[in-house]
Amino acid sequence: MRESKESEGGEVGGETPLREAWYYALPGHRLRRGKMLAKTILGEPLLLGRDAGGGVFALRDLCPHRGIPLSCGRFDGAGIECCYHGWRFGTDGRCTAIPSLVPGQAFEVSRIRAAAYPAREVQGNIWVYGGADPAGAPDIPRIPDIGEATGYRLVETMRFPGGIDHAVIGLMDPAHGPFVHRSWWWRSRRSIHEKAKAFAPSDWGFTMLRHAPSANSRAYRILGGAPETEIAFRLPGIRIEHIRAGRHMLCSLTAVTPIDAGATEVNHAVYWTMPWLTPLRPLLRPFVRSFLRQDRDIVAKQQAGLRHAPPLLLVNDADTQAKWYYRLKAEYARARAEGRPFVNPVKGRTLRWRS
Ligand code: FES
Ligand SMILES: [Fe+2]
Repeated sequence: MRESKESEGGEVGGETPLREAWYYALPGHRLRRGKMLAKTILGEPLLLGRDAGGGVFALRDLCPHRGIPLSCGRFDGAGIECCYHGWRFGTDGRCTAIPSLVPGQAFEVSRIRAAAYPAREVQGNIWVYGGADPAGAPDIPRIPDIGEATGYRLVETMRFPGGIDHAVIGLMDPAHGPFVHRSWWWRSRRSIHEKAKAFAPSDWGFTMLRHAPSANSRAYRILGGAPETEIAFRLPGIRIEHIRAGRHMLCSLTAVTPIDAGATEVNHAVYWTMPWLTPLRPLLRPFVRSFLRQDRDIVAKQQAGLRHAPPLLLVNDADTQAKWYYRLKAEYARARAEGRPFVNPVKGRTLRWRS
């Protein structure tokens, strides 16, 4: 993306996703014990599995023998057997058996490995590390005020066409609300008014500091108490919205995962502490889905235009967060390449826009 001449300048990241980062792979409940599944992330074929003990793992989904996907084989909760010649692999990718060998054919099977990716399960979500070295990478985000073992109460997954950048920018774009998310229960064009929000740099990104949500966001009122919202963004494409209402909280984690050059996945996991909300989950789900669908549909329309590689504009202050995203991404890529610590390029300030 190029920036407008009128904008305040700054680095613009490439369209390629960062590799040295943890990406949201899938909601934990979709991967049962003793099961494996195939999924492309960062253009790489991955096999994701959960062993008999409940631990998660990720391997490159290609047999080192003849390249057939290992996910076509069988998994017994401890090891994977390739469907072609029956080679067996541990969940760490190490080969443990080659059935064709006869006694005397000395061959060190453990030297053969299917590449393994670091995988972790945190607060119900499974994350995979896309690069070579997780040390010094943005850590896996954690939802505050709940335990490590507590999972989401609601999760939705949606595929967006196109690369990661426009999906991420759409997440932090404050000006599209009244146009894209127009509905009787949320926003209307007439609800547009001027806003001023204080931002500060935070871990691997920036945070819109705690504030009372706009009076015209009707859906917040059902929370009770005086809700206050804080929204944090961090690399590689994660948004955490934390709403505190009295002694309760409602928090959402939105994570953008690059699938391949033509697709991006958005996972939206919601956590809450108010018990009365849990039985209302079936009513809540359609709202979450319709929100995500609106964001997906607008990105899909945008793709038709982006095919012509038009120059694009980032306008202050509504697009300042998008500029920060590009700067954060570029700085992190440079810091990794130069082997030095990441220096957050965001300077705290108040942003003003109408929406
Ligand atoms: S291709 Fe996997 S064992 Fe031969
Ligand atoms: Fe949106």
